[in-house]
Amino acid sequence: MKRNIVIKIGGSLLFTDNNKILSDKITEFCRILKNNKDFGKIIVVCGGGSIAREYINAVRSLKGSESLSDIFGIELSRINSKLLIASFQDYAYPQVPKSMEELSLALLFNKIIVMGGLQPGQSTTSVALEVAEFIGAEELVILTDVKGIFNKDPKKFKDAQLIKHLTYEQLEKLILDLQEDKQATAGEYRIFDFVSLQILKRSNIQVIVTSGKDLSEFIKLWNGEKDISGTLISKE
Ligand code: UTP
Repeated sequence: MKRNIVIKIGGSLLFTDNNKILSDKITEFCRILKNNKDFGKIIVVCGGGSIAREYINAVRSLKGSESLSDIFGIELSRINSKLLIASFQDYAYPQVPKSMEELSLALLFNKIIVMGGLQPGQSTTSVALEVAEFIGAEELVILTDVKGIFNKDPKKFKDAQLIKHLTYEQLEKLILDLQEDKQATAGEYRIFDFVSLQILKRSNIQVIVTSGKDLSEFIKLWNGEKDISGTLISKE
């Protein structure tokens, strides 16, 4: 039986620093996934990126609640998902599932499924883990704008070191340590949120966090190569 896979693509990877849409990159990402030999069900979870953060900050300054800010983030992640669906054309289920029920329906059609956020209070990484658990995927790939998980924020600290392997337990300790270290958290180094960690701890999902800045690592991974630069998170 073919393995099921979930891929989370950070919203920031779909845009330039000036918030222009990287259409060629979206085309390339979708082209890779359309060429599938090894996987059964494929679900892509799309993040909100900087545009979502822009709306979230605006809602906060308009004195909207945190839940309302989250709802804006969710909507933006769904818009980003629709961009991918536009590029996948017939290869993708045409709608963005908004709940696990809608996902169950989408799964009947044997197409690539693209979705964004589900409910306030979590991130699209949590969604990706929930979905991986739901469809029994053993693997979740997180494509982000840095090379993996570091011992501190690599955008702030030149001496930050990439961690090649983490057990669930080590990841939990790292998140707690970073929270205590005020210097490292000042820039909001969100490697993995707590909701995601809780889902991960009750699962047996293997997570690979790697760079999606260019798609070279992802292509290697998709082709079954083992030597991927990034962080592997596993139960043991
Ligand atoms: P993410 O923060 O997960 O997007 O979702 P992202 O693109 O992966 O983030 P970066 O740019 O790569 O770091 C965007 C926002 O949407 C809301 C949250 O506010 C989140 O910060 N959200 C997302 C939810 O409230 N619930 C969800 O299920 C998903």
